[in-house]
Amino acid sequence: CGIVGFVGQGNTKDILLAGLSRLEYRGYDSAGIALYSQPFTLVKAVGKLEELKKKVAADKECQLPYSMGIGHTRWATHGKASEKNAHPHLSMHKEVVLVHNGIIENFAELKNFLQEQGYSFYSDTDTEVAVNLIEYYYRKDKDILKALFSVQKELKGSYAFAIMFQEDEKTLYAMRKDSPLIVGKGENAFYLASDVSAFLDYTKEIYPVENREILSLSEKEIHIYNKNAEEVHRSSAIAELDQSQIHKGEYLHFMEKEIFEQPKVVKDTLLYACNQENEETAGNAGNSEYPEFSYEAFSMTEKDFQEISRVRVIACGSAYHAGWVLKSVCESLARVPVQVELASEFRYNHPILEKGELVISISQSGETADTLAALKEAKKLGAKTLSIVNVKGSAIARESDFVFYTQAGPEIAVATTKAYSCQLAAGYIFSLLLAKAKGKISKEETRSLTEELFLLPGKIQQCLSFDQEILPMAKELKDADNIFFLGRGLDWAISMEGALKLKEISYIHCESYSSGELKHGTISLIEKGSPVIGLLSQEELAGKSISNIHEVRSRGAKCFAIRMEDIAIEEEDFAHNLIVPKTHPLFAGSLLVLPLQFLSYQVSLLKGFDPDKPRNLAKSVTVE
Ligand code: G6P
Repeated sequence: CGIVGFVGQGNTKDILLAGLSRLEYRGYDSAGIALYSQPFTLVKAVGKLEELKKKVAADKECQLPYSMGIGHTRWATHGKASEKNAHPHLSMHKEVVLVHNGIIENFAELKNFLQEQGYSFYSDTDTEVAVNLIEYYYRKDKDILKALFSVQKELKGSYAFAIMFQEDEKTLYAMRKDSPLIVGKGENAFYLASDVSAFLDYTKEIYPVENREILSLSEKEIHIYNKNAEEVHRSSAIAELDQSQIHKGEYLHFMEKEIFEQPKVVKDTLLYACNQENEETAGNAGNSEYPEFSYEAFSMTEKDFQEISRVRVIACGSAYHAGWVLKSVCESLARVPVQVELASEFRYNHPILEKGELVISISQSGETADTLAALKEAKKLGAKTLSIVNVKGSAIARESDFVFYTQAGPEIAVATTKAYSCQLAAGYIFSLLLAKAKGKISKEETRSLTEELFLLPGKIQQCLSFDQEILPMAKELKDADNIFFLGRGLDWAISMEGALKLKEISYIHCESYSSGELKHGTISLIEKGSPVIGLLSQEELAGKSISNIHEVRSRGAKCFAIRMEDIAIEEEDFAHNLIVPKTHPLFAGSLLVLPLQFLSYQVSLLKGFDPDKPRNLAKSVTVE
């Protein structure tokens, strides 16, 4: 979901719709806007934003000038995607209208309470409960701020609200807890949005909003109140984001642009992890002066690293897959045990955390509700927490003891590519530092692994040629119903990401199997022509993986290989055989993933889908 708001001098309707377009990437299945008039003007539509735009264009009321409004893209949680459930939501007496990103956990009990007070409801949403609760308090003594403070005390869960009151034609109100919200200051205007990209075309001057703050915005003024109802004075800042970062430029899709950005952002992440003064010398192949990675990049000390006895990774989706790579690399280099858990399972598995266990949450957005909840649980259990996050100042980053910021920049395509690659890099660096702090690797090894890491961006660059090279394979796979991915060890970890990418944007059912496990069950699914993609980058395991590929081939499977240079195969066994450059086997995943990303991108295009906006998916899922 995403929310936007505007108050002041400007074309309110167009500003809201443009903001919603910028937030489309977050994922949604319905959208709506409300404009301030007496009564409020509301337009909602199911499906793509285009549908809403058409309705707005056809609505006479909407063509009038307005100086305040709010808008929303909704990803259905409580109640299906329908006009009735789409935001903005209007209170029963039509005095309050709001948009909401987040989830109200105690909505059922609040709904009962409001029903007892005579309130009735038209939708299935938790948001309609919130808007009526605000109205209920507001009607008590017609004091808007007082009502908002009362509601803040009652609500459990997460929310970012943009709110308009019929009584106050000049002021837009907002409040947040655990869901992102940011204010932009224009000339005689204020903007509100879930993220800055929504209004970056109008202004770069921003005010971050902290948890449990309540705001009032008018054409010229901003007032911010903390949870004790005291006014807070805050200076504005300049958004670090650049407009070019939120435009596709020469590329057809954000996904393609982001895949191509990988050499740069991986290098930026490596540099970020180094002592700043050494930056100059970084990344020059052939230069013997390689910089060193620093503990401080993780906001930790050498001692913090030395005290780690175990690691637990909690994450969702691709970030979870990055966790599996971290496990392999960290266990191999630092000999510290790593357990990887789905964030959505962690809380409910009666977690046992040992003294000295570091809990690492990996997240691109830093706002995934499942990951945030797991992190809070880990803290409650007394664990030290580190987050590897891409979005600065996000909830997960703020909640953690230590933070490492991946340097992917804004990622707009729903299916992650560059943020995942940066997460892999962060995992390598973490493992290397841990091995060093624990005295598990020699200076020489540290140096040669660091050198190898700085060669990675150049090798990733070489892999960009898969953009076209993958086409014949994509054409052969586009009509498959099921695709199997096989790998052992690190290759298995990468195959999970390859299968997920293809599922996400081509809607083909794909599964990744550990090569050795296949024969214990799944092999029964293999029939004549079943496509099987084998990943082969680990020299010591390749022989065994190839035997497993023979097992499926002799049962009719059509096999494809994605392998590292120097891994020997019988080429005639494979319909296609793609080769990535040689690197240290521990870092091979960073190269293998490129052909897999291009494969999913090209298959999606061949099938006529929009790879940037896959059906049903949201970029950041702020509900559990
Ligand atoms: C959503 C996205 C996935 C993503 C996952 C974790 O489900 O659709 O692509 O991997 O969230 O997101 P995060 O922002 O925590 O990395």
